[in-house]
Amino acid sequence: MKIKTSKVAVVGCGLVGSSTAFSLVTQGVCDEILMIDINEERALGEVLDLRDTIKYLDRNVKVRTASYADCSDVDIIVITAGAPPQKGQTRLDTLEVSAKIVKTIVDPVMASGFDGIFIVVSNPVDIIAHYVYKLSGLPKNQVIGTGSSLDTSRLQNFIAELVNVDPRSVYAYSMGEHGDSQMVPWSTVTVAGKSFNDIIQDNKDLVGDVDLDEIVKKTTREGWEIYNRKGTTYYGIATACAGIIKAILYDENRIIPVSTLLEGEYGETGVFAGVPTILNRTGAADILEIHMTDEELNKFHQSVEILREYYGKMHT
Ligand code: LAC
Repeated sequence: MKIKTSKVAVVGCGLVGSSTAFSLVTQGVCDEILMIDINEERALGEVLDLRDTIKYLDRNVKVRTASYADCSDVDIIVITAGAPPQKGQTRLDTLEVSAKIVKTIVDPVMASGFDGIFIVVSNPVDIIAHYVYKLSGLPKNQVIGTGSSLDTSRLQNFIAELVNVDPRSVYAYSMGEHGDSQMVPWSTVTVAGKSFNDIIQDNKDLVGDVDLDEIVKKTTREGWEIYNRKGTTYYGIATACAGIIKAILYDENRIIPVSTLLEGEYGETGVFAGVPTILNRTGAADILEIHMTDEELNKFHQSVEILREYYGKMHT
């Protein structure tokens, strides 16, 4: 007998893909990483560079180049290939090009016999994850978009800054589209169990007048704040992605807001959107349905409606 090797394939060796691999290697998350890119030389370059880290790390994660045909026994495939937005575009504007690229990945991967979990990072992530779900024919728990996981860490950073605590002590979710229409159910936000509303009331001296809408706007804009300065973003999304991979491979039942297929939850059906989701070895195991106010639920529906509309308009 042989104990099974945990394998993650990263498709797309640009800055997001290679940073995801770097995060997995430095944290020693899995046994093996397969780097795949249409530019094979680029993939090899990343592999060689990543291998140089092993000597100074706690464990030897094997990194190698691979092709789609090698994906049959891979546990998780991370799709980062896509069309990054040009100046003035939103993530939604990149849909058609990203969808075309993603199809050239999913078809041969499925032909290899792959029966693992897809994690979609390519934008617009909610719609592309939905498309990968449709193309692959895999059960819904096996297709996950990174969704609002990154927006959630941005949101928690802003709340943490305001009340001067560690962001990891903040419980808050950004939900819906990973994009301009995302929303925050403020009535559910707590800092280690104390409602954010009570914190604001009890700490007027510290926090002053808090403009919740402005915090949501800042959260939504943060990707652009980075993009405008360095032309792209990668550490945040790569680390969020590695967190999702850990939750899955370590069977953690950790709750992370990712993009998953809604089937009646929050009154929505047949659409991928960012919601708090329980992640374990089966992938997206279950959705946590948090209770929102009617106003919050309305905002969530509006965001989901945009995703449904764009998915419906896709030319595939
Ligand atoms: C961002 C990209 C990943 O928001 O969409 O940083």
